[in-house]
Amino acid sequence: MDKLVIEGGYPLKGEIKVSGSKNATLPILAATLLTDDVCTIRNCPKLRDTMTMIKLLRSLGKTVDMGKDEIIISSKGDLNYIAEYKLVSTMRGSFCVLGPLLAKLGKAKVSLPGGCVIGIRPVDLHIKGIKALGANIEIEGGYVIAKAKHLKGAHVYLGGGFGSSVLATANLMMAAVLTNGETIIESAACEPEIEDLANFLIAMGAKIKGKGTPQIIINGVKKLHGADYKISSDRIEAGTFIVMAAATKSNLVIRNANYSHLLALIDRMEEAGVKFEKDYNVIKVKCAKTLKPTSVTTFPYPGFPTDLQAQFMALMALTPGVSVITDKVYPDRFIHIAELNRMGANIRREGSNAIVEGVKKLYGAPVMASDLRASAALVIAGLAAQGKTEIHRIYHLERGYEELDEKLKFLGAKVYREKE
Ligand code: EPU
Repeated sequence: MDKLVIEGGYPLKGEIKVSGSKNATLPILAATLLTDDVCTIRNCPKLRDTMTMIKLLRSLGKTVDMGKDEIIISSKGDLNYIAEYKLVSTMRGSFCVLGPLLAKLGKAKVSLPGGCVIGIRPVDLHIKGIKALGANIEIEGGYVIAKAKHLKGAHVYLGGGFGSSVLATANLMMAAVLTNGETIIESAACEPEIEDLANFLIAMGAKIKGKGTPQIIINGVKKLHGADYKISSDRIEAGTFIVMAAATKSNLVIRNANYSHLLALIDRMEEAGVKFEKDYNVIKVKCAKTLKPTSVTTFPYPGFPTDLQAQFMALMALTPGVSVITDKVYPDRFIHIAELNRMGANIRREGSNAIVEGVKKLYGAPVMASDLRASAALVIAGLAAQGKTEIHRIYHLERGYEELDEKLKFLGAKVYREKE
């Protein structure tokens, strides 16, 4: 296993290109199960999670060929309807093969993904949606077993205690596109990744209205065909670079970034004193020498993304004054507090709030990556800190950031990958 060593205190400079979106790639790859035709997916990020989804597709009977910048998925025989624990348990995104397998085969057996360090992460909304289409669901031996002779369109309210669910919306959309009749999803997730999935399904011949809004209307079709599709850029990676620029007091040009997907972050960053310029798909970040403490509460899109909460906390840890960070999507997603405190931050948890008393400086320390976004927060802290930070267990970073160490080196950071 590798660790990341960062010599902190150097500003970043130059231009960086954002990769394709991880959280759009995973359901889009799953959606290729809905057709026997060839699908070509471009701009997929080269990530551990992408590879896990490819392994899962292969285990389900698909042929997957990797080109330089595209993934080609084709069929050679019947699909297998069982998504094994070994693969699904390593990545929650794999659970979204449930909808397409059920729609295509009339049956699916998919391992429950289980909880993880960011929270319990139940799947009740996924099951509620699929059941509403008329599937019979049983949970047995850690697997969700879904069966349906004929699925039928339905009117489903998919909101939960924490708002809409991204992957439950994806699962239901993918089940509904081949389902007889009209399905209306109320309180659907509005995240850009859901819009990306809808665009891919439409390119395959699906009939979907309302993508990007809380009401999605799907009219089932008999068959979907193959498609050639380019994944949108990763808004969380772009957001992470914006926060990195602010934390290291740098000016940065971020290419292949969609400004309108990042409005909630940009609003909070402007409040803190960071300036932005936008030009088509380029965001220029101009950082002030001193920032103002700024509080943030995460919500489903278009609110402030939970996937940028840890990174923003690292920035506020370095911004003298008090800010309050609240996660309304994953109220327990605070595992990074202890690691940031190891670097000299002064953060305490009070219920679902993190109270950040910003300090003037953080100091390099050995720290442990616990999940993907928490790891990104540690990288930000390490880049800004005085001295050397060693981040252990960086496979978490490899799940979601394409060649982050190479990109950071390109921007002038002193970052090295070493064997443990
Ligand atoms: N929830 C339920 N029941 C469900 C599903 C979700 O109560 O059946 C709750 C969750 O526990 C959470 C809230 O609803 O409190 C929202 O969860 P959601 O279902 O939207 O999360 P997800 O679809 O499992 C995706 C991303 C996550 C991201 C969340 C929220 C993928 C592969 N994952 O997960 O990304 O944090 O949406 O935006 O798309 C990451 O990239 O680091 C990551 C964790």
